[in-house]
Amino acid sequence: MPVPYHRPSITNAETEAVQKVLESGWLTTGKVTAEFEGEIAARVGSRYAVAVNSATAALHIALASLDLGPGDEVIVPTHTFAATSEVVIYTGATPVLVDVERDNLNMDPAGVEAALTPRTKAMMPVHFTGQAADMDALIAIAGDIPIVEDAAHALPTTYKGQMVGSIGLATAFSFYANKTITTGEGGMLTTDDPNIEDRARRLSLHGLSRAAWSRFESGSTWEYDIVEAGFKYNLTDVASAMGLAQLQRLDELATRRREIALTYNEAFSGLAEIDPLVVPRHDDSAWHLYIIRLRLEHLTIDRNTFIARLADRGIGTSVHYKPLHLHPYYTTRFGFDRSDFPVSSDQFDRIISLPIFPGMTHGDVTEVIEGVADIVRSSRR
Ligand SMILES: Cc1ncc(COP(=O)(O)O)c(C=O)c1O
Repeated sequence: MPVPYHRPSITNAETEAVQKVLESGWLTTGKVTAEFEGEIAARVGSRYAVAVNSATAALHIALASLDLGPGDEVIVPTHTFAATSEVVIYTGATPVLVDVERDNLNMDPAGVEAALTPRTKAMMPVHFTGQAADMDALIAIAGDIPIVEDAAHALPTTYKGQMVGSIGLATAFSFYANKTITTGEGGMLTTDDPNIEDRARRLSLHGLSRAAWSRFESGSTWEYDIVEAGFKYNLTDVASAMGLAQLQRLDELATRRREIALTYNEAFSGLAEIDPLVVPRHDDSAWHLYIIRLRLEHLTIDRNTFIARLADRGIGTSVHYKPLHLHPYYTTRFGFDRSDFPVSSDQFDRIISLPIFPGMTHGDVTEVIEGVADIVRSSRR
């Protein structure tokens, strides 16, 4: 495909860092992972960071650290990936879906307020596309209720000048292959709370009192206690080496995403049929996704046909997301239909995620812009 939806940006720095670990004699979680944790914490301004093998794992151990169980409720947006809500189900608690704001598809604070019950034990905003959710409003509504942020899209993102990762009780980042920085698969939980850090770290490795690296380092190689039933979520030093090399390049990678986004914004501002998401002035988005919304009233074709026409021109796209409430698991379990979350349902029909990755050339970006503009011109009502 001439312009794929995504291509990771890997340089010699990542290859050499990984090779060094491969030759070091220690492959699993060890000092390189500890260094990666320290660097992420320093970058986002959190006291602690716990490296894990996905953002899903980070979200899960954050919720598990809160001792959620059957009867408890956790508020999540419906317009998100499977992970945000499934981790609630892992704990035995019930996900309570709420609709999103039309401007930016982030969780709607008014919907959150309406969904609060005495059983609400946490809320999980998603910083959708890399744009921060309305944290001031959510914090005001939450009061004492813990906020666990799904920041899978949001490195580096600021909210009113503060880095996402240092705002709520705990924040989960993703290093999946198409994120701003990647370890292939990987994730990080950041928090300022020593109890969450301690518990999440233990849960990330079978509930053991001491991880293999600390036993090895201290010279007592076998002894540990199983303190509780945990999970196998630790990140390897191989992956962390790649993460450290990528983190060194974070500014460069994020800047290129922003440049592409601003070029798209400028180009599409002249097309009445295209409606980009609105980024509030005080926020700096990570621009993980660039989503256009079709004003279907002005077009003769639907979203899927638009995507097929882009694919005919060799342009890869995606859709983020089909909302949770339209998936069989949720319709069957909760009886949802489109009318339960009207904003998300309506927006789902209109959205297309365009390629936005640092390796895109000027020519690639132009090709996408011309592709969108040509399809719009040929399918105007
Ligand atoms: C909003 C959101 N939350 C969580 C995840 C899960 O991330 P991971 O694949 O690292 O588990 C993703 C994945 O892309 C995501 O988009």
